[in-house]
Amino acid sequence: MITALHRLPAPLLAVGYLPERASSVATGVDHVFGFLFWLSAFFLALILGLTVLFVVRYRARPSRPAPEPSPDHDDRLELLWTGIPLALVFVLFAASTKVYLDMTSAEPGAAPLRVDVTARRWSWWFDHPGGKGAKELHLVAGRPAELVLASTDVIHSLYVPEFRLKQDAVPGRFTRMVFTPTVPGTFQILCAEYCGTNHSGMSAPVVVHPDQASFDAWAAEGGAVAGGESLLQVGKRVYDEKGCSGCHSVDGTPGVGPSFKGIWGKVHAFQGGGSAKVDEAYVRESIVNPGAKVLAGFENLMPPIPLEEREIQGVVTYLQSLKEGP
Ligand code: CUA
Repeated sequence: MITALHRLPAPLLAVGYLPERASSVATGVDHVFGFLFWLSAFFLALILGLTVLFVVRYRARPSRPAPEPSPDHDDRLELLWTGIPLALVFVLFAASTKVYLDMTSAEPGAAPLRVDVTARRWSWWFDHPGGKGAKELHLVAGRPAELVLASTDVIHSLYVPEFRLKQDAVPGRFTRMVFTPTVPGTFQILCAEYCGTNHSGMSAPVVVHPDQASFDAWAAEGGAVAGGESLLQVGKRVYDEKGCSGCHSVDGTPGVGPSFKGIWGKVHAFQGGGSAKVDEAYVRESIVNPGAKVLAGFENLMPPIPLEEREIQGVVTYLQSLKEGP
């Protein structure tokens, strides 16, 4: 039933002053918010109303002495005022969990537009597919977007009110947001986590293109990156300069360490049991703490490699480019 509710074009319990709904998760968020808002308003009115009524109606009067001993307990009443809130909280839990899961995982089979987002004091940087970097985020209406967030200094939070989306960018780890923008146009990204002097100025536009052709035209104009290397170039450079190539081939030949070819996105078994998917978090851990999860059949001979945030993002992008095949 909750899933069906989220498919409705507009929430039944909308709160009027909210901005336009411009992403696939916005309606679900507004359902949860509207439900919580009107539920709170109802109980506020009920409790305040009864308080005033009882104060007036049962006030102390000489004609009505207090009963002795005064009543202190009623099992039915206590069950009622425990049971009803419990049921309401479970409804909220189910509804908001559904919305949260929609925000963190892509629909199976969708080829999302992946953008690497870097937050730093006090600006945003967006690396788009094909290597185009920009201070603006560019997306396509109707195409799922996957943002992978990193921070080079402190915690920031990417917030777009029209998308009803907010996700922290945390130093030392990757976070992710998955959604589909639904309305073409330009919206504003805000930083929603206090990060120092210019926190309030840490904003950037997000441009939602009406179609892929419009996005491609933007991505092709004016060269790949405004003054710098693309993430793929950074990754290749790190691979050569930091000596990765001594142990990790990129053509599938096993060396001292596993080949990088085709390793991305697959589930691999570890030495000593267990397995995990090779994703952003795995790659970061394997660079910072190589002994944590060693692939089965290999020995841990790798020293920790101190890399900057952008270099780790570059290695992730490079590994993604090394698909299996001819
Ligand atoms: Cu970045 Cu607040």
